[in-house]
Amino acid sequence: MKFNIKTNPIQDISIDTIILAVNDKNHIINKSKLTTTTVSYLTKILLTNDLPENVGSTLLVYGNKDFKRIILVRLGAVDTFDYIKLINAFKKIVQVLKNLGIKEILIPIEQFINKTMSASSTIEFISREIINSSYEINSLKTHKKVANNFNISLQYEGTDSRGIKLGLEHGMAVADGANLTKDLGNLPPNKCTPTYLANTAKKIAKEYKMQAKILDQKQIEKLKMGSFLSVAKGSREAPKFIIIEHNKGKKNQKPIILVGKGITFDAGGISLKPGLAMDEMKYDMCGAASVLGVMKTVGLLNLPLNIVCLIPSCENLPDGIAVKPADIVTSMSGQTIEILNTDAEGRLILCDALTYAERYKPETVIDVATLTGACVIALGNYATGLFSNNKALSNELEDAGINSLDKAWPLPLWDEYQSLLDSNFADMANIGGRAGGSITAACFLSRFAKKYNWAHLDIAGTANTSGKSKGATGRPVSMLSKFLINRAAR
Ligand code: BES
Ligand code: MN
Ligand code: ZN
Repeated sequence: MKFNIKTNPIQDISIDTIILAVNDKNHIINKSKLTTTTVSYLTKILLTNDLPENVGSTLLVYGNKDFKRIILVRLGAVDTFDYIKLINAFKKIVQVLKNLGIKEILIPIEQFINKTMSASSTIEFISREIINSSYEINSLKTHKKVANNFNISLQYEGTDSRGIKLGLEHGMAVADGANLTKDLGNLPPNKCTPTYLANTAKKIAKEYKMQAKILDQKQIEKLKMGSFLSVAKGSREAPKFIIIEHNKGKKNQKPIILVGKGITFDAGGISLKPGLAMDEMKYDMCGAASVLGVMKTVGLLNLPLNIVCLIPSCENLPDGIAVKPADIVTSMSGQTIEILNTDAEGRLILCDALTYAERYKPETVIDVATLTGACVIALGNYATGLFSNNKALSNELEDAGINSLDKAWPLPLWDEYQSLLDSNFADMANIGGRAGGSITAACFLSRFAKKYNWAHLDIAGTANTSGKSKGATGRPVSMLSKFLINRAAR
């Protein structure tokens, strides 16, 4: 994908295809920037009412002397236009470009900006959405679709030249990170193994001058990660504990740690899942995939921060030597856990990563996990579940979600819920019953995150779509990137 910013008037740019926005009154929004011939030509066309009224609908027009093709897009009332409508409009625009095989296009930016919007964010969302919508699953079909590559000129005559440069840079970096997350998520579990994730981490580290360290079974044993290892026991795939360190902040700046759940397939273990849609449990490594995607974005932007990425990765399968319900394991923290359900494995691998995080004396730790089906029941597919032991951090993440249109919604971590994890035989059980299932899962994790500011993102409902059009979404890369970009600026 190629983007360039053009600051000269539209008439001075010769590109065959242009996108022009139309308001709810059937007028071209920025007509003063066009020649009178183009405006009167389009006015006649719009009188046909062939451009539907709903926001985001498009109409392709041929044969004007200024442009070979004009793609008209309905924005509706300018006052109520916003970033969500902007993104939806660009989803449809990319569809038109794909269908027609158009590669080169001119997009005047100012027609998409109203009083509530900034040039910088507008350009950020446009570039992000164009890359996002151009994504094609890297499938194993013999005749697979390849991702579209466009050459896009963003035309802007306003004054915020620094803002639009940054906006474009951020939009592209975030979308590229999210597309890596999608690629990893969409791979089948026989290809995307813990070893594959480890190799991906090494690649990212090499490309962006970070340090990667991959711990194997023996090293994980030495660290006494008994909880993580109990999950890995039932699988023939080698478990990996993946570490990436990005040290581009001040020397004494405490790091931000991102932890991702890397279960490359979750069959449930001995507490075996039912067969229906079990294939979707290949997405159980989307927490890991999203933190790897964020590391790519961080690398592309070379953010001046100290960031550490930690990924415990293994499969959760049944086997003769697999961990059983009633088994008691000792976590790296020393706390003992009675495993009452082997399908509540995410928390078992994450808790040891949270303890490992302590050695960095972190400023903030954020874990990302497809942790509970209960979160999907609570919030559906629009919001990521947000838990934190620190109100300011929770607010910061919630804002980052709103500002990146990749939203999270806070859920409680109150002490009342902790007692649901009581066990007769160990320090705690790994499940708390059906009621408040995502909260008790978060409560479990909180017991390993007492030494720092911590937030937990449950992405079970947001990491992938299900059913016929299933695929990874790349969430919450946008939200976490926004959070980090803001941290870098503060
Ligand atoms: N990976 C699943 C959670 C999940 C479920 C993600 C559906 C996406 C869609 C997790 O490991 C799991 O199995 N959780 C159990 C916990 C229960 C046994 C307490 C669940 O949600 O049913
Ligand atoms: Mn599970
Ligand atoms: Zn799982």
